[in-house]
Amino acid sequence: MSNGDVNQSRRRLLVGATSVVGGVGVVGVAVPFVASWNPSAKAKAAGAPVKVNIEKVEPGQQITVEWRGQPVWIVRRTPEMLANLDKLSDVVADPQSEKKQQPEYVTGAYRAINSEYMIMVGICTHLGCSPQFRPEVAPADLGKEWLGGFFCPCHGSKFDLAGRVFKGVPAPANLVVPPHYYIDDKTVFIGLDKEGA
Ligand code: FES
Repeated sequence: MSNGDVNQSRRRLLVGATSVVGGVGVVGVAVPFVASWNPSAKAKAAGAPVKVNIEKVEPGQQITVEWRGQPVWIVRRTPEMLANLDKLSDVVADPQSEKKQQPEYVTGAYRAINSEYMIMVGICTHLGCSPQFRPEVAPADLGKEWLGGFFCPCHGSKFDLAGRVFKGVPAPANLVVPPHYYIDDKTVFIGLDKEGA
């Protein structure tokens, strides 16, 4: 089971637990509760792909969109950021992302269709916290070896600007890349690939 699946399962469990607690001693809610098993239009929409205009994302900037109730980050990487990724292959655990945490059309160290834009699910692969975007080089708290990336405040996991996990941290795997494709230079569809998966 992938971490994405684990997170989904955990979410389902939490939703189920909440429903049970809410139903205690309130017999009258039984019918609406059963009816809620049929997915509503809103629930279907929550799982729908998201179309994002990336035209206004500045070089070096991160934006966040929501897809299936999860944060999805889009980072526009500068040439310097991409060059720094090339220096990190010895310190990240899975430099070519061979654990298949991305669709097959996303390959290599940059983990992107268009290397300028990194698209990934913003959930730590350890226990599901949301890592912080730390694009600066050598900040005092992360040390002079830091070349920009994501830091998870929960247990200290570190990821680079391709979402690749560093060696020796609690997170076992890179951040997940969702299915996506570009409609044109300025527009990306998240949650769907060209084949409709
Ligand atoms: S949840 Fe991110 S390091 Fe534990």
